[in-house]
Amino acid sequence: MEKNIDKILKELTLKEKASLLSGGDFWQTEAVERLDIPSIFLVDGPHGVRYVADRHHADPAKKATCFPTAVNLAASWDLAIIEKVAAALAEEAKALGVDVLLGPGINIKRSPLGGRNFEYFSEDPFLSARLAVKFIRTVQKNGIGTSLKHYTANNQEYKRFSIDAQIDERPLREIYLAAFEKVVKEANPWTIMAAYNQINGDFATENEYLLKDILRDEWGHDNLIVSDWWAVHNRVKALKAGLDLEMPGPDPVNDQKIVEAVEAGELAEEKVDESVTRILDLILKAQSTTKEKNELPAAEHHQLAREVAAETIILLKNQGDLLPLTEAKLEEKESLLVVGELAEEVRYQGIGSSQVNPTRLDTHYQALEDKFSEQLKLHYTPGYSSEAEREENENLKEKALREAENKDYVIIYAGLPDKVEAEGYDRDDMQLPEAQNQLIKEIAAANPNIIVVLNNGSAVDLREWIDNVSAVIEAGLPGQAGALALADIIAGEVNPSAKLAESYPLQLEDNPSYLNFPGSSGTVRYGEGIYIGYRYYDKKNQELLFPFGYGLSYTEFAYRALEAPDHLEAGEKLKVKVLIENTGLFKGKEIVQLYISQNNPGLDRPPKELKAFGKIELDAGEKQWLELEVDHQDLAYYHPDAGWIVEADQFKIMIGASSRDIKFTEEIQVESRQRLKALTAETPLEDWLADPLGKKAVTEVLSSEQIEEAGFFKPWPIYRLHFFAADQVSLEEIEEILDIYRDL
Ligand code: GLC
Repeated sequence: MEKNIDKILKELTLKEKASLLSGGDFWQTEAVERLDIPSIFLVDGPHGVRYVADRHHADPAKKATCFPTAVNLAASWDLAIIEKVAAALAEEAKALGVDVLLGPGINIKRSPLGGRNFEYFSEDPFLSARLAVKFIRTVQKNGIGTSLKHYTANNQEYKRFSIDAQIDERPLREIYLAAFEKVVKEANPWTIMAAYNQINGDFATENEYLLKDILRDEWGHDNLIVSDWWAVHNRVKALKAGLDLEMPGPDPVNDQKIVEAVEAGELAEEKVDESVTRILDLILKAQSTTKEKNELPAAEHHQLAREVAAETIILLKNQGDLLPLTEAKLEEKESLLVVGELAEEVRYQGIGSSQVNPTRLDTHYQALEDKFSEQLKLHYTPGYSSEAEREENENLKEKALREAENKDYVIIYAGLPDKVEAEGYDRDDMQLPEAQNQLIKEIAAANPNIIVVLNNGSAVDLREWIDNVSAVIEAGLPGQAGALALADIIAGEVNPSAKLAESYPLQLEDNPSYLNFPGSSGTVRYGEGIYIGYRYYDKKNQELLFPFGYGLSYTEFAYRALEAPDHLEAGEKLKVKVLIENTGLFKGKEIVQLYISQNNPGLDRPPKELKAFGKIELDAGEKQWLELEVDHQDLAYYHPDAGWIVEADQFKIMIGASSRDIKFTEEIQVESRQRLKALTAETPLEDWLADPLGKKAVTEVLSSEQIEEAGFFKPWPIYRLHFFAADQVSLEEIEEILDIYRDL
């Protein structure tokens, strides 16, 4: 293919140009043989290559490694883990002849009910951004494109093709766009995928404010924007807004509309050329990577999937150190009962476009059999069935109870069935299936040595039995090798280190989106504003089941010291060091989190915001310093009048093992060259006096007597002063205050 795009543009007919603006088929761009322009493949997904040959998903996808899903990858808080998975995905994409991998998904988890929460990282935009930057940089460094999705506010499945997400400017910027902004600026994704839904009355695929004003003009994204599949409504409006490629294709009707709009003078051909240029640029990028189609390194990547999964599985409870089941502990034990349909019918990923056809799939029962059969006699009973009626579940439960009575250990595999959480539908509640809850409660009463393993893509309500069981492991949806990873953890060959990237509330009603999820009559109002996840729970001091950033280990860590500055110059990077000691018996990894809080913000801010994290591995008894850094700009909040602003102010730096387990808090004076210039003639005098710049301007013009005299009028807009106290304060003096302030 000719590399000079301008040259190609000159040779393309308008009709050919328009044909390039929609796909050639379900997964490919259009080719133009006459000019030797090839098609390229865009294929899902975020945790594995899902190469489906035809548009009707008729035949299963080609086999590929199903890595842990995003909910698990985020729980690792580990950029090295992300890098390994991303590099392996790129390798498999190349082997399968794929040019662009349709991921990562970074939509924020606004409600635990979101059907695709398993496919997204977190409730926190900072954590989501860090992980996505590493993912995209690694995949693209290996010559494969990515598609950062779904831009934006695709936070629910209910009416996802049409719902209008009504979001105020500040939460839109600070929560729902924040991760996209960082990733666009730091990782330069080859493509961005525009979402199905509307945002503030405009479909994402034709939303000029989002696609052009923000994404292109403000953030400088000049790469391609692709629609989600069938997400384009008005093709000409979308093109004008900056949507380059409509997928899937082909769409001759829309192509013709583009031709007609140009011929009618309603659409400048330059606009068409801009998008054609981005498509040709994407094809050239894709072509610059040789893709020798070859065998997948299936065995090697299965082992990698196992190692990675073990870093993403969270130990939520381990009363009496029941776990791990080490050889020493098992010496005088002889039996292990494995309970649960999910132990055999493994749930390891979510249904929908991200679904991978795994190269191999281990079951939990077999993994435990391989691990423990030399020391323990294993028994299995389903205990429940997601397909059975109540009565049969009762029988299954009774059978399991009888089996559990005389066993040394019981491991129950519980979790959410595919039919309640997936792409395309949200959950109705946070409950596990009632048959599982009943079974766990009653088995716990019969046998104290009970371990519950969960497979679920988002927060679940565990209150019915959490106090009655000894150990709980949150395994999420850990990919094809998840069962092996869990067996490694249960046996103590891997010490769990993962931590929650989503808060687990006690009940759904405690979640801040509860009153406004999933919306009605075509609109969903993000009434909670910036207060989502831990930002809300901490503001309300709400009791939680498990907080954001929480996870246990088989060992213990002590936070011995924090070294942090007490002053930060404008633009200076904040650098701190934390001394961590492993005071337990096992080698382990600790995820350390750094949160900030601003003392006197111009606009209300959450009590804490995650701004750095790190992970350190320590032998038993070892202690090391861990360095954490925060960019000055990350101390900012978004002010609708002033944009992102770091205000000169006192901040708190909090070091935590979780968002609710803060080990150190230090005050720091932060300087800034930015000034919040939001005062106007309509602003009350009292607010002028409360603002550092406002006060400077007022006191340069008015004497302390005049300010004193203004007493009663301070809550009134400053310009009213000359009405109330014309003999003390003239209109000229008010104007002079405004002028001085503007020039500060
Ligand atoms: C789906 C999903 C998107 C996926 C695309 C292609 O509907 O929303 O994430 O990449 O269509 O399968």
